[in-house]
Amino acid sequence: MDKLLVHGNGTLRGSVNISGSKNASLPILAATLLTDEPCIVRRVPDVSDTNYMLQILRSLGADVERSSGTVRIEPKSISPEAPYDLVRKMRASICTMGPLLARVGRARISLPGGCVIGDRPVDLHLRAMEALGAEVEIAGGDLLIEAPRGLRGAEVDLHGKHGPTVLGTDNLMMAAVLAEGRTIIESAACEPEVVDLACFLNAMGARIEGAGTRRIVIEGAAALHGIEHTVIPDRIEAGTFMVAAAMAGDGVTLKRVRRDHLEAVTAKLGEAGHLVEFNAAGDEVCIRPGEGPQGCDIATAPFPGFPTDMQAQLTAMFATTPGISIIEDTIFPQRFMHCAELKRMGAQINVDSGRAVVHGIEFLSGAPVMASDLRASAALVLAALAAHGSTDINRLYHIDRGYEHIDEKLLQLGARVERVPV
Ligand code: EPZ
Repeated sequence: MDKLLVHGNGTLRGSVNISGSKNASLPILAATLLTDEPCIVRRVPDVSDTNYMLQILRSLGADVERSSGTVRIEPKSISPEAPYDLVRKMRASICTMGPLLARVGRARISLPGGCVIGDRPVDLHLRAMEALGAEVEIAGGDLLIEAPRGLRGAEVDLHGKHGPTVLGTDNLMMAAVLAEGRTIIESAACEPEVVDLACFLNAMGARIEGAGTRRIVIEGAAALHGIEHTVIPDRIEAGTFMVAAAMAGDGVTLKRVRRDHLEAVTAKLGEAGHLVEFNAAGDEVCIRPGEGPQGCDIATAPFPGFPTDMQAQLTAMFATTPGISIIEDTIFPQRFMHCAELKRMGAQINVDSGRAVVHGIEFLSGAPVMASDLRASAALVLAALAAHGSTDINRLYHIDRGYEHIDEKLLQLGARVERVPV
């Protein structure tokens, strides 16, 4: 249970490499279960969520070797039951459901509970599996999904109350690639991580068209084979460092990014008055704070809209940006846990019915604060970097779930941060 001690009000300068995407890696690692041949996945970030996923794959019977960012997985023979103790640690373990069902016709996965960012149902995942012919039962807190007669292609609309589902789209693609016949996904999620998974599956021999659009068509294949793949850069890690550079930087360059994945964040930083400049290839970006920054409004939306995973970080930025900013999270309306902690640092924020109204003040003051989830922790780190005084961020394990060696990267940019074992 480490904590992060941040001495604020310094200046970030220099450059840092962005890691491979956590949210692309998780379903891709699960997708390796679709073949008995070895797969090699590169640029898998060394964060606790990818390590949980590798433990789950091992517990299902796969041989897993990891050497820094490169992972080799050979799932020769696998069992359909993921152990509760591992699965309960990470909601994304739900994405082993599609591959297990496709490969062994059966999956037993502990039913994910709610989490701190809100009620997180899996009804759309289950509706998708049932449409392909699976039977679903809940027993002792576990989901039992079986397809005794195999999976058959179907038309499935994945639109939910809060829009499309990312991991639901992933699960359905992974189940459908080995189903008999054609599957059509309507209202599919268009996130870059879904596209990366589709590229991975197609390289394995799947036949998926339309990933990145609202309609995905999949022709079932008889078998898939092992491949090598490099995951896309983490657009949320990049976005988080872009905001750090706008709040506390003086010319920070981020390398190994993708401009086409960062358009909504780039536009919002520009609207707030900051300077964001990409190189011609679109794989490096330099951020400088603007001279007259101003608050603005944000409503999260599915890709290419403004990502919910960047909402907390922008809320932290607007806490010290002149003007009033209204932040609405349409995807996870309860995802405002960071606001109470930001208020302990002096922020003026009122949260009501899925919206935060932020009155920008001159500066925040360091305080002991508690991380509550991954992106909320990132918001606290950003606030602490720009604050006057020192901030103790407790429960750092939340940030270690999804940011690769964040303390080392911040030190590289000149931040005064210390990881302290508690
Ligand atoms: C993915 O979660 C990401 N996780 C989340 O990243 C991200 O916040 C989220 O997509 C939205 O972009 C991973 O990729 C591992 P959803 P996912 O299903 O797929 C509702 C982070 O910080 N819904 O797209 O689980 C749901 O409640 C994280 O890295 C249903 O109603 O999210 C939400 O309101 C956390 N029924 C909306 O859909 C369902 O069956 C979108 O959720 C499934 C979802």
